[in-house]
Amino acid sequence: MSMNKMSEAPIGVFDSGVGGLTVTREIMRQIPNEKIIYFGDTARVPYGSKSQEVVTRYSKQIIRFLRTQDVKAIVIACNTASAMALPEIEKEIDIPIIGVVRPGARVAASATKNGKIGVIATDATIGSDVYTEYIQQINPNVQVIGKACPLFCPLIEEGLWQDPVTDEIAMRYLSELIDIDIDTLILGCTHYPLIRSTIGRIMGDKVTLVNPAYETASSLKELLETDHLLNESETGLGSNKYRFFVSDSAKKFQNFANTIIKYGILSAKVINIEEY
Ligand code: DGL
Repeated sequence: MSMNKMSEAPIGVFDSGVGGLTVTREIMRQIPNEKIIYFGDTARVPYGSKSQEVVTRYSKQIIRFLRTQDVKAIVIACNTASAMALPEIEKEIDIPIIGVVRPGARVAASATKNGKIGVIATDATIGSDVYTEYIQQINPNVQVIGKACPLFCPLIEEGLWQDPVTDEIAMRYLSELIDIDIDTLILGCTHYPLIRSTIGRIMGDKVTLVNPAYETASSLKELLETDHLLNESETGLGSNKYRFFVSDSAKKFQNFANTIIKYGILSAKVINIEEY
């Protein structure tokens, strides 16, 4: 492919399910010319309770699928897969790839003033300690306190974004982070930006909330610019600009996706990911 044609190729974005749509939404906002192929692994979600070996195998299958769609770059729009699979995958792949963890860690490291950063995420992401590793590579004196919040994803997928039940659970999860006086909190799971207002209210306005979805879209833009891969030509919404694939339950995915992404009704196609 010529360099011109390469820049017009889509970006491949994947997640364990619907959560990566918060990252996709940011990419659509920040680099609106880009075409996107999204894959949500709805048959095998959640990744947050699985082992590194399994999450890495799933991620590699998805990347093989995305490469059949001639993507020019890949975004791992899932904290768990970024934490567990990206370090191995980035050694092997020959197109630009980024995850959500490093951009989030970088911003948090520069935002903290008292050197105490909290991370909320899935069990797997917290267990991997990758946020701590990346933050301490930037500043070894920063203390990073992780807290797994496994009930948040199901509550959010049930649509309980503003609900007393979510408030109650959030208070329990977040109280220990309040007690140790963190001044920066990373929303280290793709779903959590959807309950940002609840988390912000509980943490108080002295705590800076870092949304890795936003930071990842900015990092992607920089990466594409550096590699001369940014799409300079406009793509109309009709011409297959945004395409969505899932491994199961297309209808459920579509319903959720249409509450997050407001670019007309979006539809998803089911593929058999085990074939890749
Ligand atoms: N997308 C996942 C993440 O950001 C959350 C859902 C899951 O456990 O698969 O970690």
